[in-house]
Amino acid sequence: MKTRHLTLLVVIFAGMLFLAVGALTAAEEQAVPEKITLANKGYKKDKKGPVTLTHKKHNVDYKIACAECHHVYKDGKNIWNEGDHVDKCSTCHDFKKKNKKTKAMKLQNAYHKNCKTCHKALAKEGKPTGPFKKCTKCHAKKKKK
Ligand code: HEC
Ligand code: HEC
Ligand code: HEC
Ligand code: HEC
Repeated sequence: MKTRHLTLLVVIFAGMLFLAVGALTAAEEQAVPEKITLANKGYKKDKKGPVTLTHKKHNVDYKIACAECHHVYKDGKNIWNEGDHVDKCSTCHDFKKKNKKTKAMKLQNAYHKNCKTCHKALAKEGKPTGPFKKCTKCHAKKKKK
């Protein structure tokens, strides 16, 4: 009787350990979101409404490589690879000013340069693309306070 109890306990404990390890690895793995709403707080003035990016669609339907938008620079080269951890753009791009040391431009410019430059270049080539002139095609109306 006693040994059976002990065996049961061991089995339960092992099961719990298994689950705990599973949960930990799952937490480390980042999901690739379907859509992302960018509504960062920290700008000098928050003038415009949030922007929704059709994240997966950009990759799957519009065939934009992850590394067009995600990077970690080392010696001027993008060493980020698909599957690597993704930090928020604001981790490296400051809300208020360019980082003189890393040369990372301020956050608003980083987003605009990334999104609009691509859209504009594709438009020039006469290809289907996203907005780059009309603010409201990206920015939702700002809610009145
Ligand atoms: C291709 C999409 C796109 C277009 C077009 C666009 N923006 Fe943005 N803009 C963004 C994104 C993405 C952000 C980052 C939003 C955030 O961090 O919350 C941003 C941030 C900003 C910010 C800083 C955050 C804030 O709310 O104050 C300002 C100001 C801004 N945009 C102004 C404009 C103006 C003015 C226009 C039109 C001339 C414009 N944008 C057009 C995508 C766009
Ligand atoms: C058109 C640009 C673009 C493309 C293409 C793109 N991403 Fe993103 N991704 C973003 C932006 C913008 C964010 C939000 C960053 C932020 O919050 O500051 C983001 C966020 C993420 C996040 C973080 C989600 C979280 O929970 O914080 C992951 C993971 C990610 N992307 C993975 C990928 C992978 C993998 C691919 C390619 C299969 C990809 N992205 C393609 C722009 C893009
Ligand atoms: C790990 C830090 C880091 C993160 C996270 C990061 N950046 Fe950058 N980014 C940099 C640095 C550093 C530079 C300057 C590189 C240079 O000029 O040598 C840069 C340059 C850029 C540039 C100009 C050069 C280029 O590659 O086109 C754009 C646009 C840009 N970032 C947009 C973004 C956006 C949008 C995000 C979020 C999806 C983001 N960055 C996330 C560090 C980062
Ligand atoms: C490297 C190119 C590239 C980059 C970077 C990029 N886009 Fe786009 N975007 C496209 C293309 C291509 C389309 C539309 C193609 C079509 O309609 O078939 C598009 C369409 C859009 C549309 C309209 C359709 C939709 O799916 O919502 C919006 C809004 C948009 N993009 C927002 C953004 C924002 C915000 C960013 C930056 C965070 C961004 N894009 C970065 C290429 C890009």
